[in-house]
Amino acid sequence: MAITSLGYIGINSKKLSDWEGFATDLLGMQKVDQGGAMRLFRMDDRKQRLIVTGEGEEDLAFIGWEVGSPSDLDALASKLENAGVAVEWHGASLADQRHVARLISFHDPDGNRLEAFCGPEIASDPFLSGRPISGFKTGSLGMGHAVLHVADVDGILHFYRDLLGFEVTDYGLTPYPLYFFHVNGRHHSFAMVGSGRKGVHHFMVELMSLDDVGQGYDIAQQRDEGIAYTLGRHSNDQMLSFYTNTPSNFFVEYGWGCMILDTEKWKPYETHGGPSTWGHERLYLPEDDANRIKLREMRHKLARDGVRAPDSQLAPQPNCPWLDTVVRNE
Ligand SMILES: [Fe+2]
Repeated sequence: MAITSLGYIGINSKKLSDWEGFATDLLGMQKVDQGGAMRLFRMDDRKQRLIVTGEGEEDLAFIGWEVGSPSDLDALASKLENAGVAVEWHGASLADQRHVARLISFHDPDGNRLEAFCGPEIASDPFLSGRPISGFKTGSLGMGHAVLHVADVDGILHFYRDLLGFEVTDYGLTPYPLYFFHVNGRHHSFAMVGSGRKGVHHFMVELMSLDDVGQGYDIAQQRDEGIAYTLGRHSNDQMLSFYTNTPSNFFVEYGWGCMILDTEKWKPYETHGGPSTWGHERLYLPEDDANRIKLREMRHKLARDGVRAPDSQLAPQPNCPWLDTVVRNE
């Protein structure tokens, strides 16, 4: 698989001070000082993970996908060009701006700008979080995940699955199509929502500690329309998360506890119970919205059926010496 992880995300927005406060005070990212209109944010040892351009409409600017080597980048570019996708090779100027060795760009069938790169630069100074958090779960799992609205799931599925080589993790068709794809052990690095629209739905960052998410939830509730989805747990990747409104009319999912897949053995399957085991009430939708009601009914059915996430996904519990002795003696 040529693409190994989600490397970075670029957002077009002119609301720079709003993004600055959002990314640091709520999400806990580190603002990187630099001249010009762009705002750059770190999440780990990479020089940047989130880029707010200071230009254009409030929407996605680009998604940066990492490949392992220059030859993998060559192979991906050839595969796309052979399939009739226009690929642009960028020189040192944009590569320097993205802090990578080499990069290409191209567009998916909905017109979203995608970049693929190799050789990310590592910062020489340690990551300093914008608020006290345990840190972001990145490394080989990448920055997190990105989820796009798509006009036509079937039309765009071919592009991501067959050209980019994303593996389908699972998919649901009710109350609307949802497809999840992995490129490493993270349950999904990319997903599409068949909402009939275009543009970014949300991106997700994963925290090392459940308390990071809980404290973020408290902070988000102090912000105007800070909560888009209440705290809840997804039924497929078992992520415990909430969704917050960004300054640019889409969401960030702030989560903990995502399932890690055995990619060698994984087989895609259709899900039927809905996207959340509990919670994730869509506060951003009107109370009488048909999808909001349908999703709530699906969660209530899961509750009546007693559906639980496997215990393996829960944080290790402290040992109880008495219970350990009982278990050992049995
Ligand atoms: Fe998500």
